[in-house]
Amino acid sequence: MKFFIDTANLDQIREAQDLGVLDGVTTNPSLMAKEAISGDKNVMQHYKDICAIVDDNVSAEVISIDFEGMIKEGEALAALDDKIVVKIPMTKDGVKALKYFSDKGIRTNCTLIFSAGQALLAAKAGANYVSPFLGRLDDIGADSFGLIEDIRLIFDNYGYETEILAASIRNTVHIVECAKIGADVMTGPLSSILGLLKHPLTDSGLAQFLADHKKAAGQ
Ligand code: E4P
Repeated sequence: MKFFIDTANLDQIREAQDLGVLDGVTTNPSLMAKEAISGDKNVMQHYKDICAIVDDNVSAEVISIDFEGMIKEGEALAALDDKIVVKIPMTKDGVKALKYFSDKGIRTNCTLIFSAGQALLAAKAGANYVSPFLGRLDDIGADSFGLIEDIRLIFDNYGYETEILAASIRNTVHIVECAKIGADVMTGPLSSILGLLKHPLTDSGLAQFLADHKKAAGQ
């Protein structure tokens, strides 16, 4: 399973990269705003800064909602660095843009996926990644893991190479369940990745080992 971090915060991206398990980054306009990044020049520079930290897969989202605007923005984003994956919303113009970029060999991530039908359409249009939003589905009481299972089944039925990028991850249970179901990628906050480290028996076991070592050394 690939691990992406879902943030535009450079310190958190560096921390995840230093851990040695990071495969990429996803951002969105809200995450960029959270870091107070605004204005075309600053936004572009911020994406370059992120690309300088990680090895590959930096999802950069277009703001335009019309086809021409998406193409113009997406091409400018893709020209920044080979690591950029253009993030396109699941709309009619978005699907056309996915096909356009696929034909040009520019990688895409189709975002705001909430149904298996949307994922199928994005895969047909040649998206490299589809991003079903788990946490937001949980928030409205929908079956988020069922959606991942349905998309997995459909992609496997037809051999689609589009990767399932489980997004809106909120906790370690989301990550582990998605890994069991067969999501190709998960993107979550740093806390969800670091949460995988934790188990109380690991802490108490380590404390016991160190105490026994100290006791033996004192004998
Ligand atoms: C996906 O790429 C999005 O950036 C993200 O996962 C949204 O998550 P949220 O529901 O926590 O905002």
